[in-house]
Amino acid sequence: MLGNVIVGQSGGPTSVINSSLAGVFKTAKDRGANKVYGMLHGIKGLLDKQYVDLSEKIKTDIDIDLLKRTPSSYLGSCRYKLPEISDDRDTYEKIFEILKELNISYFFYIGGNDSMDTIKKLSDYALLVGSDIKFMGVPKTIDNDLAVTDHTPGFGSAAKFIAATMKEIIRDGLVYDYPTVTIVEIMGRNAGWLTAASALARGEDCEGVDLIYLPEKVFDIDHFLERVKEIASKVIAVSEGIKVMDGRYVFELSDHVEFVDAFGHKQLAGSAKFLANKVGSELGIKTRAIELSTLQRCAAHMTSRTDITEAFNVGGAAVKAAFEGETGKVVVLKRVSDDPYMCITETHDVHQIANIEK
Ligand code: F6P
Repeated sequence: MLGNVIVGQSGGPTSVINSSLAGVFKTAKDRGANKVYGMLHGIKGLLDKQYVDLSEKIKTDIDIDLLKRTPSSYLGSCRYKLPEISDDRDTYEKIFEILKELNISYFFYIGGNDSMDTIKKLSDYALLVGSDIKFMGVPKTIDNDLAVTDHTPGFGSAAKFIAATMKEIIRDGLVYDYPTVTIVEIMGRNAGWLTAASALARGEDCEGVDLIYLPEKVFDIDHFLERVKEIASKVIAVSEGIKVMDGRYVFELSDHVEFVDAFGHKQLAGSAKFLANKVGSELGIKTRAIELSTLQRCAAHMTSRTDITEAFNVGGAAVKAAFEGETGKVVVLKRVSDDPYMCITETHDVHQIANIEK
């Protein structure tokens, strides 16, 4: 007697966000869901009635397995901020009307802290109007900046890519008999987790990166140039989100085109290029800038098996919790053992997770 299920993907893609989609689909089907719909381009697409019946697309276990291992967002994505309920009830009425037309009882949204804002608002609205629809968040982001959870699915694979890529860049940087500097720009917005993962390059086969700059600390250009001068030939990891004392991002110090998304996030790109020009012009050292950009998000050749499994599991756990009556929650990972590594899933109130950057 279950109603139907709908699931969407939101925010930047990862190499395992489809594993979570597969986890939602399979668990919902195994537990007796009738139809499982997929929103195309998240909540934005749903508002335009863009959705697919996933059962028509995913027919066999092999389809599920293929989806589980396919990078990027199969359903497409969006960066769309729902209005405050008090400002615009029409949007909510429209969404709930569409959900009613589709006979939806369970709504799942796979995303980061911005996307959890959607779950928060929809579950709040459901409470307000006495709707029975259950709303659950499924965590994902390479930025790893979601509160409460031990880590986010997507981060592990991106971190693995960063660590391996840094090793390769370091090897490449050793070949000449004159000093060179390579500055590598890594995603993560205002959180340094992924940039910090460049430290994993260090091991018995590699001396590691020489300097790492995280967005959580004010970036001082003069101090940076001093350090580069001291160590001469080097590989440096910088976060895309490093900021100078007055609050401006480093990339904003040079000519750039500004693009701001619905959540007010500026597109961050160009810090490494800016710094490479500085090092070249002020220190006269041959310098390269490498902006890893989207390469680090969906690097399927580097996907971590643990990440695939955990991403699948959080999707499944969200379905289980919703089918048991939970709503307004996000599935989180809780580490229960370091050696051997082991995480379990729990659920947590979305109000303590949405819009918060860890
Ligand atoms: O998904 C998070 C993230 O990867 C950030 O690290 C990055 O700043 C941002 O997405 C880029 O987003 P977009 O794909 O919208 O340019």
